[in-house]
Amino acid sequence: MSEFSNAFPETFIAAKPEVGLVLGSGLGGFTDLLSNPVLLPFSEVPGLPVSGVEGHAGRFVLGTLGGTRLLAAQGRVHLYEGWSAADVSAGIRAMAALGIRTVVLTNAAGIVNGDFTPGNWMQISDHLNLTGTSPLTGGPRFVDQTEVYDLRLRAHFSTVAQQLGIPLPSGIYAGLPGPEYETPAEIRMLRVLGADAVGMSTVCEATQARALGMKVAGFSCLTNFGAGMTGDLLDHADVLAMGRQAAGHLATILAAAFPLP
Ligand code: HPA
Repeated sequence: MSEFSNAFPETFIAAKPEVGLVLGSGLGGFTDLLSNPVLLPFSEVPGLPVSGVEGHAGRFVLGTLGGTRLLAAQGRVHLYEGWSAADVSAGIRAMAALGIRTVVLTNAAGIVNGDFTPGNWMQISDHLNLTGTSPLTGGPRFVDQTEVYDLRLRAHFSTVAQQLGIPLPSGIYAGLPGPEYETPAEIRMLRVLGADAVGMSTVCEATQARALGMKVAGFSCLTNFGAGMTGDLLDHADVLAMGRQAAGHLATILAAAFPLP
């Protein structure tokens, strides 16, 4: 029995979604691609935390894409809102309770690797959890994280992107707690640590999903250069706008990628 065993309406349980999708800032429009969408606000799922951040609508959309039954979460809650690591990964446990075995996580991220281009997507190959917390505090302990982001899925998405002619570099995502953007010194530090992109989500969800034996894929929308990499200041509105502008590319990749291996 999970905390979410009785949390979903019968339509959602009966649909037996196979793949879960978490849509980050500015990326919620992806659900327009789903056939026969059924909506469910997070507030109607007992036990799920509800966000107040602009760009995070806070609802599930059930639907099909390429013959696969998907459950998309439009919006997520963040550590920087004051939620715990267990809270920010509750949506993943809810998906697991519905029988979902594969999750695709998306986020908006700042560029740390100067070879990357704003407006492109990066496939996450591994992460640095620099949040100072974990959804697994209290157990289970010592979960293996050698391959958080599933190698077969990664190869599949890279092949699909290549066939479509859409750039999809792979890289390391550094997850920080936020809520402030980084300083230029922090961006330089992250590069030394091996990060290619930086954001304020995803790492707790990925860790939770792996601990539940789910397969994980992750994509970062590279919305801006990290602080100090150009003369520009960072602005949340620009980040959201770039997310919306670039969303179509990942949507095209995902639309061609189902069914997943
Ligand atoms: N830093 C952290 N998180 C982000 C950024 C950034 O530059 N851009 C989008 N999310």
